[in-house]
Amino acid sequence: MIISVMNLKGGVGKSSISFQLAQFFKLKMITNDANTGIMNIKILKGNSSIEVNEDRLYDFGGFDDIRIHEVLASSNVVVVPTLYSRADLQNTVRTVRKVKKLNPEANIIVTINRVRSGDSKQLNSAKASLEKYIDFGVQYCQIRDSKVMLHSLDSGKSIFDIHKSSKLNRHVYTGIINDFYALIGHIEEFIDDGKN
Ligand SMILES: Nc1ncnc2c1ncn2[C@@H]1O[C@H](COP(=O)(O)OP(=O)(O)O)[C@@H](O)[C@H]1O
Ligand SMILES: [Mg+2]
Repeated sequence: MIISVMNLKGGVGKSSISFQLAQFFKLKMITNDANTGIMNIKILKGNSSIEVNEDRLYDFGGFDDIRIHEVLASSNVVVVPTLYSRADLQNTVRTVRKVKKLNPEANIIVTINRVRSGDSKQLNSAKASLEKYIDFGVQYCQIRDSKVMLHSLDSGKSIFDIHKSSKLNRHVYTGIINDFYALIGHIEEFIDDGKN
């Protein structure tokens, strides 16, 4: 399985989400962004080529790097995190169109990140705006805003490990864990489809 996490814009949560998914699916995480704040991942130097391998998660920094085209073309799933602002959604339209052009078969999951907890208004309204400009099939899901995302990268522990580490954590982080399970559910559907 090859998952790419991509948006032409920075600061939307690509590296934070990548880290969780790589941990969950036990994929090696590879990035072209030297400033992810994550330890123990492979960082591609500016001039080195990208090897496309199975069982990888590629986290692509928010700039257009020509080397990522080949990886996108081979990805089973492309997760496109975005924030909710108008400018972010515009960049997301550009990103999704670009991914579709490079890989018409890719399963694209737009993930509205940092939404207010327990509120699907932002997801529904972002989806409605995006659907005006994206006329092919794309999945949508949301990840709420939670300080555990920063805590996870700081500690090098996935949010799944943090969640199960104490009774209190199981209580306070249930919401964001369920958001991630919804995203993971979409990914697993696509993976199962590929096998049948
Ligand atoms: N769901 C979230 N809740 C709270 N903070 C988040 C969330 N997702 C990302 N962040 C924070 O947003 C900032 C940018 O995230 P990052 O993953 O580095 O984005 P990118 O890789 O797209 O540049 C980081 O400080 C990160 O902790
Ligand atoms: Mg990043």
